[in-house]
Amino acid sequence: MQFSYADNSATVKADALLVPVFEGGKGLKEYAYGDKLAKLFSKGDFEGKAGSTLMLHKSDAVAADRVFLLGLGKKDKDGASQLGEALAGFFRNGAIHSYKLKHVAVALEAVHDDAQAIGRWCAEGALLGDYHFDVLFSKKDKKKHHASKLTLAGGKAAELKKGVAYGEVTAEYTAHARDLVNEPSNRINPATLAKFAQDMAKKVPGLKCTILHKAEIEKLKMGAFLGVNAGSDIPAHLIVLEWKGGKQGEKPIAYVGKGLCFDSGGYDIKPAAGMLGMKMDMGGGAATICALGAIGKLKLKVNAVGVVPATENLINGKAYHPGSVLTSMSGQTIEIGNTDAEGRLILCDALTYTQQKFKPRVVVDMATLTGAQVVALGGKVVGLMSNDDKVAKGLESAFKAVHEEVWRLPLPEFYDKQLDSTIADMQNIGGNPGTVTAGLFLQRFIDKGQKWAHLDIAGPAMNDGDGWRLWSKKSATGAPVRSLVEFAENYK
Ligand code: BES
Ligand code: MN
Ligand code: ZN
Repeated sequence: MQFSYADNSATVKADALLVPVFEGGKGLKEYAYGDKLAKLFSKGDFEGKAGSTLMLHKSDAVAADRVFLLGLGKKDKDGASQLGEALAGFFRNGAIHSYKLKHVAVALEAVHDDAQAIGRWCAEGALLGDYHFDVLFSKKDKKKHHASKLTLAGGKAAELKKGVAYGEVTAEYTAHARDLVNEPSNRINPATLAKFAQDMAKKVPGLKCTILHKAEIEKLKMGAFLGVNAGSDIPAHLIVLEWKGGKQGEKPIAYVGKGLCFDSGGYDIKPAAGMLGMKMDMGGGAATICALGAIGKLKLKVNAVGVVPATENLINGKAYHPGSVLTSMSGQTIEIGNTDAEGRLILCDALTYTQQKFKPRVVVDMATLTGAQVVALGGKVVGLMSNDDKVAKGLESAFKAVHEEVWRLPLPEFYDKQLDSTIADMQNIGGNPGTVTAGLFLQRFIDKGQKWAHLDIAGPAMNDGDGWRLWSKKSATGAPVRSLVEFAENYK
């Protein structure tokens, strides 16, 4: 989508002009043609509720072929994000499709926020709303219509441009993460995921990508990661991305993401219905890779690393068994209570590696880790666990800033003993509460004094929500890429 700028919304020649209005018609009089629209509100034909639209017939008052009122809801402090959300809805399932609109203009005369924020939200809203995973249809008529141009009219062009440049990057990399998760596991596997990361890094000057292959992973003695990989014909890959935009010697922020390209459950095999969606089990890895891509592309003044253990969890004669005991890279031994609790096994070795290699100032891991997260918080709220209040608060405000949702869960010490084993240092299952005991398992691999947070994105990686960052059918969200970028920029 191409972005352009104009001084006056009334004179833009576009297929449609979107006129944002707050509830009750607030802001209407700030448009030159506002008087002509006012009676729609007095007659009750339009209320301005968030996400609502009303198409008007061609009016002499504007040069565009069609006019749509775009409801933003109650006037809030943050009109820019309200506009972003409304635009996303319009691009996702609005009239773009029914009228095959190519060039859309949006009137900005009545939205008074910081112009850079407006630009960013408009770009993110339009581009993410316009996202459809349609590459696998062979027939053209199944492909969605895409708008090709968005003109931002009636705002401060120079500032808007800066915001758009930022939003284009966050939206692009969020869309990459969506693609990776939506792609089926016969197309995105540990090798092709690693290839994606390498190709991505080549396009971002200064972003370094290293792939550790199975022999190196063996040398590092990542016995837990390798235990999970044993049942797969595709060797394990450890994907490592490094961005050095900060001061020399400054310790990096580390993101670690579960890259489980297909989760059959292993010998503790999943029932068919539970296995069906398990191409998405690399959602944490996709978010990690794409966040690093966006951070590099935006040239953020921060040092950041991304580490993604990538494997499948399958069954063959070499696969690990229920009851197997694995020795992790940390030296701690793990009795396998359930081969389907594999995510924590690949993550624990990745966490050990990340801490040893990079001495990060904070580690944030993310994973589609537990079905219990979906039960507790559903498809729209990420579960957050952390050993540090400042890190947790930083993540909470990053999520809030980009309209992703997160809720902190506790890590009570008294549940930790549920992970004890009678024959090894621990077992990989700890009973209920399942999301929290998974978090407690990972915490056993966090060094003393290491600031750390864990994000369980089992539900939010892919859902059928109605929010704009969430495609309306069962599809990937790209969460929490935008939150990770925001956190990297603001965490001090
Ligand atoms: N990848 C799954 C978690 C999952 C479930 C993600 C549903 C998205 C939707 C994970 O590897 C898993 O199987 N977890 C088990 C752990 C259990 C065996 C302790 C679970 O949550 O059932
Ligand atoms: Mn599993
Ligand atoms: Zn899994």
